[in-house]
Amino acid sequence: MRQVKLPIYPVVYPTGHRLNQNESQFPLPVRIKNQLDSMTYHDLHEYPVEPINELFERYATYVGVTPEQLLVGCGSDEMIHVVTQALLAPDDIVLSPTPDFSMYPIFTTIAHGQHVQAADLSYEGILKAIETYHPKLLLLSNPNNPTGKLWTVEELTHLATLVPYLVVDEAYMDFTPDASMIPFIAKHPNLIVLRTMSKAFGLANVRIGFMVTNSELAHYFRQFIPPFNISGVSAKICNIFLKDGHYLQESIEWHEEMRQKWMVALEAIGQVLPASTNFLYVELGQPEVVWSHLTALSVHTSKQSTGIRVTIGDEAALKLTQQAIQQYVESMNVKNS
Ligand SMILES: Cc1ncc(COP(=O)(O)O)c(C=O)c1O
Repeated sequence: MRQVKLPIYPVVYPTGHRLNQNESQFPLPVRIKNQLDSMTYHDLHEYPVEPINELFERYATYVGVTPEQLLVGCGSDEMIHVVTQALLAPDDIVLSPTPDFSMYPIFTTIAHGQHVQAADLSYEGILKAIETYHPKLLLLSNPNNPTGKLWTVEELTHLATLVPYLVVDEAYMDFTPDASMIPFIAKHPNLIVLRTMSKAFGLANVRIGFMVTNSELAHYFRQFIPPFNISGVSAKICNIFLKDGHYLQESIEWHEEMRQKWMVALEAIGQVLPASTNFLYVELGQPEVVWSHLTALSVHTSKQSTGIRVTIGDEAALKLTQQAIQQYVESMNVKNS
């Protein structure tokens, strides 16, 4: 056996009110619900072909590339898995900023690589870390999870010239499509972009993610995935959402409106960082204390070293959180009086 120490996920997850997983709580429009209700399942006996062909066509049109430039997998998680497996030789170095998505070190380790992190979330910090570590792969999320920070196109295009491969994980980019690196794939042959249907499209349950790159790299990566690696049922569901001319914009607008409300609520406990994602990061003096208080009141957030990350929930989640925050503020006042 390998001597690895990786997190082990529960076989059966706890249920409850989750604001720690960046799921969408945008209520489904009735017209979409109706289409989902009228789906048929007469093709369950066969491996999926037509729904996946359609998904490739639709997603390629959505992001402005050709289907040959796409790979699809079980969430963008599978795409991180593929990219690390396919590019890393044993002990090759993968660099990410601090903080960044928790799965990067895990997939790097699984692929026999070494994961290192820059000192912070600054551009200068990354430049310095590239000089120090000479990574094979620079892997970062844009917008950044957990803070929501957006790296600029200028920064990323320059970074692409400094490393053998740049992987930009755009899980939350559907909220701000103008900041995407996809239009720069043609200019940078070492650029790989990851996308997902889990966030702005609100389809975390269908587990569909994409890799977008030039067709030569896409062809290379295709060797590392089995045939029929995603479900045709998932593909059909994605096609319904991609076909709808208004859904994504409605989801973006709902998130914008709710984000303002959440910002006001969360400002009572700390400094809320600006973001255009479906989560907000609150910088706090005592993340552990606030996180424990909210968790005890069934408000599950993501605990980070300098704060908490909170998913933008619906009105019911907001109300529950406002109450929990009020209780926290009152308990602090009592302590300090
Ligand atoms: C930055 C980032 N990348 C990738 C993922 C994985 O998403 P999925 O596998 O659902 O596409 C997430 C999920 O939270 C994420 O935050």
